[in-house]
Amino acid sequence: MIIVAGSANMDLVARVDHQPAPGETLIADGYGVHDGGKGANQAVAAARLGSPMRFVGAVGADDFGQRIRDTLAAESIDTAALATIGPASGIAMISVDTAGENCIIVVPGANGELGAIDNAETIFESARVVLAQLETTPAFVNAALKAGRAQGAETMLNAAPAASLAPYAVEALDWLIVNAAEAALIGGAGVPDDPAGAQTLAAELAETYAVGVVITLGADGAVWHGREGADGRGHVAGAPADVVDTTGAGDTFVGAFAWARSQDKSVREAVTWAVAAGGLSVTQAGARSGMPTHTALAAALA
Ligand code: RIB
Repeated sequence: MIIVAGSANMDLVARVDHQPAPGETLIADGYGVHDGGKGANQAVAAARLGSPMRFVGAVGADDFGQRIRDTLAAESIDTAALATIGPASGIAMISVDTAGENCIIVVPGANGELGAIDNAETIFESARVVLAQLETTPAFVNAALKAGRAQGAETMLNAAPAASLAPYAVEALDWLIVNAAEAALIGGAGVPDDPAGAQTLAAELAETYAVGVVITLGADGAVWHGREGADGRGHVAGAPADVVDTTGAGDTFVGAFAWARSQDKSVREAVTWAVAAGGLSVTQAGARSGMPTHTALAAALA
C-alpha cells in the first residue's frame, strides 16, 4: 500500500490570456472548480495506476470538505484517516494562461492545522511507500516520514511548494523529489537550465542530505541521483505533448514514481513511467483530468 500524508484542496481555476501583472485586473475566459491539493492529487495519480492507497490529511467542515472526501473515496482511496478539522477546507486560487502555465495561491485551511499523527503505528502499518509534500505542516510531515521509516517503508518527500528542508526529518527520508526551482532553493544554487546542470545539482543534494534525489524538468523529463552510490543516476527525456494545463503535472509524476517503486520497479523504470505519466497529464484541464490509468500509461510507453 502507498500512504500519502498531505494536503487536499479545492482548486478555483480561472483561464486567462496571460498572467496578471501587479495592479492589473483581468477578465477571465472561463472558470472551473476542480479537486486538487498536492497530496490528494498524488494519491489519485497512484490510485489510477492501480495501487491500494490510503490518504492521511484533513478537510474542513464545509461543502468542499465533503466533496474532497467523496472524490477520494470514488478513486478507491481509503479515507479513514482523513480528519475534519475546523470550518474551512484548503483552497487554491489558480490562473492558467493560454500556454497552459499556472500561478497558484494556496489558502491552507484544515491542511495547516495538521500536526502529530495519533495512532501512527496503526495507520502506517502496511505501508510499502510513504509520500509527503510541503503543503501541510512540518510536524505532520515529520510524523509521517518517521512512521514510514519505522515500518520499513520507502519514504518520499515532494518538497513543494519550494521551501528549505531545515524543519524536516531528512534523516527519515529515502527520496527527495523536486522541480528545478525547488532544487535550486534547497541547494542554494541557480536554477539549472539543462539536464546536465540538473544532474550536477541532484548529485550535490544527494550528498548533502544523504538521500536519493529526483529533479523534474517539465518537457525535458527528469534526472535522478541515487543515495550513496545506490540506484545509479541518469536522465529520462520527456516526449512532446499538446499542453492544455500544467497544473498537477508534478503531482502526476510523483504519484506515478511512488506507484512504480511500490511495484518494485527499478529507479530508472520508475522515472520512465513517471515522466510519461506527467506528459499525459498536461493534455487536459485541471490537476487530475489528464492523470492516466495503468492501461493508458502502458499504451503510451509502448
Ligand atoms: O500541484 C498542483 C496543486 O497545487 C493544485 O491542485 C493546488 O491545489 C495546489 O495544491
